[in-house]
Amino acid sequence: MTKRPIAYLAGIGSATPRRVVTNTDLEKTLDTSNEWIVERTGIRQRHFAEHDETLTSYSLVAAQQAIAQAGLSAGDIDGIIFATVTPDHRLPSTACGLQAALGVAGGWAFDLVAACPGFVYGMAVAEGMMEVGLGDTILVVGAEKLSSITDQTDRSTAILFGDGAGAAVLRRAGTDGRGILSTYLGADGTLAPLLHIPGGGSADPLSEELIRDKRHLIKMAGREVFKAAVLAMSRSTDEAISRAGLTSSDIDLLIPHQANLRIIEATAKHAGLPMEKVFVNLERYGNTSSASIPLALVDAVREGRLKPGMVVMLVSFGAGFAWGSVVLKW
Ligand code: ACO
Repeated sequence: MTKRPIAYLAGIGSATPRRVVTNTDLEKTLDTSNEWIVERTGIRQRHFAEHDETLTSYSLVAAQQAIAQAGLSAGDIDGIIFATVTPDHRLPSTACGLQAALGVAGGWAFDLVAACPGFVYGMAVAEGMMEVGLGDTILVVGAEKLSSITDQTDRSTAILFGDGAGAAVLRRAGTDGRGILSTYLGADGTLAPLLHIPGGGSADPLSEELIRDKRHLIKMAGREVFKAAVLAMSRSTDEAISRAGLTSSDIDLLIPHQANLRIIEATAKHAGLPMEKVFVNLERYGNTSSASIPLALVDAVREGRLKPGMVVMLVSFGAGFAWGSVVLKW
């Protein structure tokens, strides 16, 4: 393999739908309370898309920001990897929809389904595609409209999820050492029943009965997911650090998947990192699945927490189960 770094993040961007839904708003329709949600998850509000806001529409804003920050135009993009579990359509891919919205054609584009670690998976795939000569400038998007697959009457899931989009332009690395230092991906499909949508795919196509039974919406065994998440996140931090040839004291900032503050705290503890070195913004967005890491990256830069030269570790887990991590020099 070529010596790393092969790829670096030349520009990032993020966007959320307009409507903000606070915990207090949810109290009106669910048997829950702001106190319970904050104490058990750390979440205070999330964004829900309205009818005129498609996944493509707010992903376009994130993508345009990332492309502009990289000092490029849409025509410079060789390919698009769009990580999502909530595509605008079953067919064709949202990546192709985004390509059209960007006003370009000809480069490759495809969707990647890896749930929450989708953006981390996308970075690893983009790096590999650069390695084999399939592009020098690749747009990786992580974006979701989880409100469209959440049972808004189920208090155990409705409080967790939100909508949002994040994007990054990955370019071939220069000689300044900036870029991806290590990647690690994993999965365990035997855990699928802990967090899944039972119907609506080709195994159980849409029907009136399926919709009546809500088999097209997320089902989750929260406590079991919690335990598996802590294990997957801990293993992912260990792997990413050792594959980069580093120790935890070399990590300047940890950006974990924003699912639950308690999972984040357990992950940081396992990695031997104080919470001052951990970026948390889930209070503003809830769990946005594949958008979570790029939304956090953008906020970390905006808030001055992530500065050039710092070593940052991204770590995520989610349905599948799938997990992954990336260490990069910013
Ligand atoms: N408001 C008030 N009470 C609630 C709520 C709520 N919103 N939800 C559940 N409860 C109740 C339960 O009914 C239960 O009551 P009981 O004791 O009378 O039976 C009690 O609170 C405790 O329930 P638990 O499920 O044990 O609560 P827990 O502390 O585990 O917190 C939570 C639940 C927040 C879901 C937690 O388990 C969690 O975060 N799990 C991980 C979920 C996750 O990260 N999923 C995303 C994965 S990423 C992806 O792929 C999308």
